[in-house]
Amino acid sequence: MLPPGWGLLWLGLVLGSTYVSLGSCNLASNSKDALNVLLIIVDDLRPSLGCYGDKLIRSPNIDQLASHSLLFWNAFAQQAVCAPSRVSFLTGRRPDTTRLYDFNSYWRAHAGNFSTIPQYFKENGYVTMSVGKVFHPGISSNHSDDSPYSWSVPPYHPSSEKYENTKTCRGPDGELHANLLCPVDVADVPEGTLPDKQSTEQAIRLLEKMTSSASPFFLAVGYHKPHIPFRYPKEFQKLYPLENITLAPDPQVPAGLPPVAYNPWMDIRQREDVKALNLSVPYGPIPVDFQRKIRQSYFASVSYLDTQVGHLLSSLDDLHLANNTIVAFTSDHGWALGEHGEWAKYSNFDITTRVPLMFYVPGRTAPLPEAGKKLFPYIDPFDSSELMEPGRRAEDLVELVSLFPTLAGLAGLRVPPRCPVPSFHVELCREGQSLGKHFRPHDLEEDPALHGDPRESIAYSQYPRPADSPQWNSDKPSLKDIKVMGYSIRTIDYRFTVWVGFSPHEFLANFSDVHAGELYFVDSDPLQDHNMYNDTQGEDLPRLLAP
Ligand SMILES: *[C@@H]1O[C@H](CO)[C@@H](O)[C@H](O)[C@H]1NC(C)=O
Ligand SMILES: *[C@@H]1O[C@H](CO)[C@@H](O)[C@H](O)[C@H]1NC(C)=O
Ligand SMILES: *[C@@H]1O[C@H](CO)[C@@H](O)[C@H](O)[C@H]1NC(C)=O
Ligand SMILES: *[C@@H]1O[C@H](CO)[C@@H](O)[C@H](O)[C@H]1NC(C)=O
Ligand SMILES: *[C@@H]1O[C@H](CO)[C@@H](O)[C@H](O)[C@H]1NC(C)=O
Ligand SMILES: *[C@@H]1O[C@H](CO)[C@@H](O)[C@H](O)[C@H]1NC(C)=O
Ligand SMILES: *[C@@H]1O[C@H](CO)[C@@H](O)[C@H](O)[C@H]1NC(C)=O
Repeated sequence: MLPPGWGLLWLGLVLGSTYVSLGSCNLASNSKDALNVLLIIVDDLRPSLGCYGDKLIRSPNIDQLASHSLLFWNAFAQQAVCAPSRVSFLTGRRPDTTRLYDFNSYWRAHAGNFSTIPQYFKENGYVTMSVGKVFHPGISSNHSDDSPYSWSVPPYHPSSEKYENTKTCRGPDGELHANLLCPVDVADVPEGTLPDKQSTEQAIRLLEKMTSSASPFFLAVGYHKPHIPFRYPKEFQKLYPLENITLAPDPQVPAGLPPVAYNPWMDIRQREDVKALNLSVPYGPIPVDFQRKIRQSYFASVSYLDTQVGHLLSSLDDLHLANNTIVAFTSDHGWALGEHGEWAKYSNFDITTRVPLMFYVPGRTAPLPEAGKKLFPYIDPFDSSELMEPGRRAEDLVELVSLFPTLAGLAGLRVPPRCPVPSFHVELCREGQSLGKHFRPHDLEEDPALHGDPRESIAYSQYPRPADSPQWNSDKPSLKDIKVMGYSIRTIDYRFTVWVGFSPHEFLANFSDVHAGELYFVDSDPLQDHNMYNDTQGEDLPRLLAP
């Protein structure tokens, strides 16, 4: 069912007729010079990618994108769970402003009528389009992916998405199960396709239509993998023979980990194949051979995802759009694969908050493609194991909440003003920063006055808990059940987290009511296994927090 008026707009788009934007103040439309935007959002992807130094992973197409991009090595999500993270970066506000820490409210009704990235582009004359999982579905985007505010045309969802959680995984017993590990023969699954394949096809169809559009476009493509279940074409397993898969380097729950910091990965336990392991709650552990299989399937899902990104970018080239389209690539948060005895997201560690983040800006991060030359030829991960030349890389700590002002600035739109505190009444403002200064040419960047000092940059994340010890709803507490909030800061030198009392009625954190603390030093403890919080108690912790 379409909101009134949409049918006609959609038809206009499909027929390729000149698109008339619904938008108001129209700065960029009809401007032949305006850059298009292709925003690729991956679900649950930590930076396990060749371009982030992972030697095992085959991700040649994403690595190729990185080779033409500015890559942010230290980028962090504001909350390591889908809906809160997406609403945060798509509105450019932190979870304490969107007041969404769970899945259960729509910010426009619950916190403030905040603009979104696509809404801003739409209001500036862009045709804005959503394919796959961009907003989290459900009430957190008003059951409509924030339509009609964010999108010019109805968002697209792949029809085969509905099978993701059904019994489509062939087990060793020959029967179909709702498993965690779900390598499939694509010809055998319902509809003979997978959601991310359908999303790629739809995104390419939209790009084709856009070649005859008078207005610039903003196309967001949200991929589902490597989110669980690991339902991917089974041939991708061959890239990762089990005997080559190692366990996490630190597979034990560290002695100094405060129980409130631990997430019991309940979603994984609910899958049939994991249930059959009779794991103990909350700490497990998962038998090591099954740990290897989870890692294998996550990595295989990443390579499958990489092929989808490869097909999409190769089409951008074929359609001669690579010279006037910004490509931004990121993920909503990371994912633990056994590090400190944890799985899934739902925590404040680097492993769950750190995300890939890169921007290709034509003529700026790479020379414009020469006529007849492809910038993004499709690379088959089965054929290639060579590492791609890395592009430029920025070390400063950056936050996903900065995506909004950064994309606006790169596209030449006015960067929204900084938010006042509080900002619930302000529809358009930014809590992050425009990262534009990082895109200056190299020679300018040598000037220390222009180049940011990584020591001054800080990334904030947070995670709510219903109790001080792990319990059934510790991963995803509903707002009313939140009793503790973990506020975490990451600098280039350390991660510091305090878990403090929190009132979900007044949305107030009580920093005099400290339930636990964590402090990890990046140089001596990059994996965050040695909590130094008690050792520095009584010493001068505020000194550590000072810039
Ligand atoms: C959410 O969607 C409903 C049904 O379409 C609509 O009536 C309501 O106005 C929307 N909420 C907001 C805040 O726009
Ligand atoms: C919220 O913002 C949208 C988009 O600007 C606007 O159409 C709508 O009227 C606003 N709603 C309220 C209640 O202010
Ligand atoms: C697995 O490891 C062996 C030994 O290091 C290596 O020769 C082989 O290429 C690896 N296989 C794959 C598919 O990476
Ligand atoms: C830190 O101190 C608290 C309170 O005394 C204690 O409960 C906790 O176990 C200590 N943690 C470590 C890592 O020593
Ligand atoms: C799990 O428990 C069930 C029922 O008690 C038992 O039949 C099964 O063998 C157990 N599985 C494992 C892997 O221990
Ligand atoms: C991009 O390439 C196409 C085809 O080669 C060309 O017509 C167009 O002028 C180019 N645009 C820019 C901004 O260079
Ligand atoms: C904050 O926590 C402290 C220590 O538990 C307590 O004494 C104080 O009443 C709390 N403040 C509020 C506003 O709840």
